[in-house]
Amino acid sequence: MEITNIVAKIMICNQNELTEEQKSVVEAAKIATLGSYAPYSHFNVGAGVLLDNGEIVKGSNQENAAYPSGTCAERTALFYAGANFPQAKVKKIAIIASHNGDFTEKVCSPCGACRQVMLESQYRAGEPIEVLLCSKDEIYIFDSVDALLPLGFDYSDLNA
Ligand code: THU
Repeated sequence: MEITNIVAKIMICNQNELTEEQKSVVEAAKIATLGSYAPYSHFNVGAGVLLDNGEIVKGSNQENAAYPSGTCAERTALFYAGANFPQAKVKKIAIIASHNGDFTEKVCSPCGACRQVMLESQYRAGEPIEVLLCSKDEIYIFDSVDALLPLGFDYSDLNA
């Protein structure tokens, strides 16, 4: 038997430590929460996606009375980016949630389905996507989607 560890590097920062590019994608995620439709969970999530053509795309969670028909902020933003800028590479994604009008104390951690979609965007881009998970005061920065979805299933597994 062999035991191996999975290690993830997380950079924990405050707003002032971000680059201008990181600040703009976090700001887009904050603004995106305003477009959230969450009458069931009252949990308003926003995602900002920076593309290599300079565009910043916003997405928010869109719920439905038939609960599984709704979708998360990250997928709304990434699918919008894919549909409207199919040639562009995703460079960064920032995610934040607000509840009862305040950004949450805990960083917003993406669900498994969104991590899988981020992995596909990263595969499409051919280079690592930086992921910024935000709370009211802190930002957890991951260099790549791989850290959030170790041993993830991608195109290479289809051809293995
Ligand atoms: N949600 C997101 O939009 N992104 C996440 O990262 C976590 C969860 C949404 C789905 C649902 O509308 C609400 O938050 C509560 O789960």
